[in-house]
Amino acid sequence: MLEIDGLTVAYGKMTALRDVSMAIRADDMVALLGGNGAGKSTLLNTISGLVQPEKGEIRWQGQSLRGLGPDIICSLGIIQVPEGRKLFPAMTVEENLLMGAYLPAARKVRRQSLDWVYSHMPHLAQRRRQRAGSLSGGEQQMVAIGRALMARPRLLMLDEPSLGLSPRASAEVFAIVSNLNREGMTTIIVSQEVQETLSITSYAYVMENGGIALHGPSAALREDPEIKKSYLGL
Ligand SMILES: Nc1ncnc2c1ncn2[C@@H]1O[C@H](COP(=O)(O)OP(=O)(O)OP(=O)(O)O)[C@@H](O)[C@H]1O
Ligand SMILES: [Mg+2]
Repeated sequence: MLEIDGLTVAYGKMTALRDVSMAIRADDMVALLGGNGAGKSTLLNTISGLVQPEKGEIRWQGQSLRGLGPDIICSLGIIQVPEGRKLFPAMTVEENLLMGAYLPAARKVRRQSLDWVYSHMPHLAQRRRQRAGSLSGGEQQMVAIGRALMARPRLLMLDEPSLGLSPRASAEVFAIVSNLNREGMTTIIVSQEVQETLSITSYAYVMENGGIALHGPSAALREDPEIKKSYLGL
């Protein structure tokens, strides 16, 4: 469904991604792990069209994304939940959600999409008229995920959705993402919560210094003591 081949990205003289290749199949949930500065967000931002690669190719359902801007890539169904959520704090929960449905195709079905989002996150339905800025961190993260869902993704990319959340809120976010995947949502999740992430994903890539240090089925990574020690900090 998504194929990445030899991707290299630089910020000025600093190379942030080197020769990254990966493949994600429809209905998969894939983990992207790695320490601070490894290049995880850069990879998502490049897939989203926010960053242009120097070299390499990204293909989505057989079509090259080369040169396409973020709006076009969104309209193809690749939707990112950015690191740090980036909500509009003075707007209500529902207004924030509706921002996700700004493209014409998503706009047409926005009422059904709202129902779908609220069915996954009933919490938000109760808070629909509240200012997003007044919610807890976990609730704000749900709004950010909900806003992405309003765009009707075919590939959902989450950048550290549980960062800074309490263990309980973090578990809720993982459960929601897991449920979405069970319904068939193809997902890439970036996370530093290694154990939890490996337990909900089927396959994992570990990044180091802008490259893929290793990859394999999540269950295999979770059980390999050497990998756990050297790459996953467990
Ligand atoms: N806009 C930018 N301009 C210059 N350098 C950047 C920019 N964004 C990221 N970098 C650098 O690129 C490298 C990869 O950063 P990136 O944000 O992709 O890592 P990450 O794996 O997401 O890290 P984190 O866990 O901290 O979110 C880092 O060295 C970072 O300092
Ligand atoms: Mg990051």
